[in-house]
Amino acid sequence: MYLTKEQERMLDGEHGEIVARMMHLLVRLGEIYKADKMITIASAQIAGVSYKSIGDPGLEFLKDIANKGARVKVLTYLNPAGIDIEAWQDIGFPGDFAKKQMEIIDAFRQMGVNITATCTPYLAGNLPRFHEHIAWSESSAVSFANSVLGARTNREGGPSALAAAITGFTPNYGLHIGENRRPEVVVKVSAELKSISDFGALGYLVGKEVKNKIPYFIGIKHAGVDELKALGAAMAASGAVALYHVAGITPEASIFENELKLEGIEIGNEEIKKAYDELSNTADIDIVVIGCPHASIKEIAYVASKLKGKKLKKELWVTTSRAIKEIANRAGYTEIIEKAGGKVVADTCMVVSPIELMGYKRMGVNSGKAAKYLPGFCKQQVLFASIDKLLEKVVK
Ligand code: F3S
Repeated sequence: MYLTKEQERMLDGEHGEIVARMMHLLVRLGEIYKADKMITIASAQIAGVSYKSIGDPGLEFLKDIANKGARVKVLTYLNPAGIDIEAWQDIGFPGDFAKKQMEIIDAFRQMGVNITATCTPYLAGNLPRFHEHIAWSESSAVSFANSVLGARTNREGGPSALAAAITGFTPNYGLHIGENRRPEVVVKVSAELKSISDFGALGYLVGKEVKNKIPYFIGIKHAGVDELKALGAAMAASGAVALYHVAGITPEASIFENELKLEGIEIGNEEIKKAYDELSNTADIDIVVIGCPHASIKEIAYVASKLKGKKLKKELWVTTSRAIKEIANRAGYTEIIEKAGGKVVADTCMVVSPIELMGYKRMGVNSGKAAKYLPGFCKQQVLFASIDKLLEKVVK
């Protein structure tokens, strides 16, 4: 792989031990995937932030490199942590867990990382432009950036995203190259998609089927940001889809429309209904959590509109980024949700927080991704349904 003089010097240790280690990791990765060179990135997004995911070994590693002077070179955001960083005590996150989590946060802060803790960085100030190269690792954010924004990133692991953040480079392979962004499977959608969770159900089905291939959807008549983030997140969870195209909607779809062989899979109303059944194994719930991927201001406004003047008989969280929560506070949505008995929880989510240690066993979600992960990762029984149906169950 070609390296510039500057990159050679980084590799040889002229910029310190940590930069050299990170450059070695990237060069190794580049060699494995036959990259021709390193490319400059505009931003990084690092997963592996929750203490639940990385434990003591991850914490020790981060503290070690932070103490040895690791510093990020580009705009760098974090994936959700395991707690609400500001309100963890009020919400009831366990103290021991919170202490460890804050040590992780402090190590990232020492490295110059923005303590954003969100899987929707594109809604919270880290918005890449079309064709910009980035190194992101949260699978749903990777999918959104590639597919909806037309930015270019591989599905990085936490360590390779951190290495890219510290060096400012990533190896040029995979989805950074235009040729590799061609669709591989056509998905004909004849189902009527009426809610965000319908898009999650569709994503769950397609991800299972296509694994890590690039799907090209035809037949989706309308999809906004919230629907597309739900679709991409679910496909990245049940499969490993890092890029998809939607005819007439996503920015690169038209480039490929003349070269599609019209074979592939078809998803109708029947299949969508089956996905709901497959992802649900309880009708009773202890808590509803909306906001996987992290809720947009529009989603929070919708929940608030449904809860205005009402009271909840069960717990309800809306999980989001700190930035979006600030907007919700100013708009009065947080107050409405809290008056009803719910919470707007920032910096974390139902999957990466230690929710199973907090007494919850049965969770209602409108996210295909959360429904897929909750049984294994959080020992939850799941009711997967639309926001409207979930609220019907928990409003008095
Ligand atoms: Fe985000 Fe947590 Fe879902 S990280 S995509 S809200 S599982």
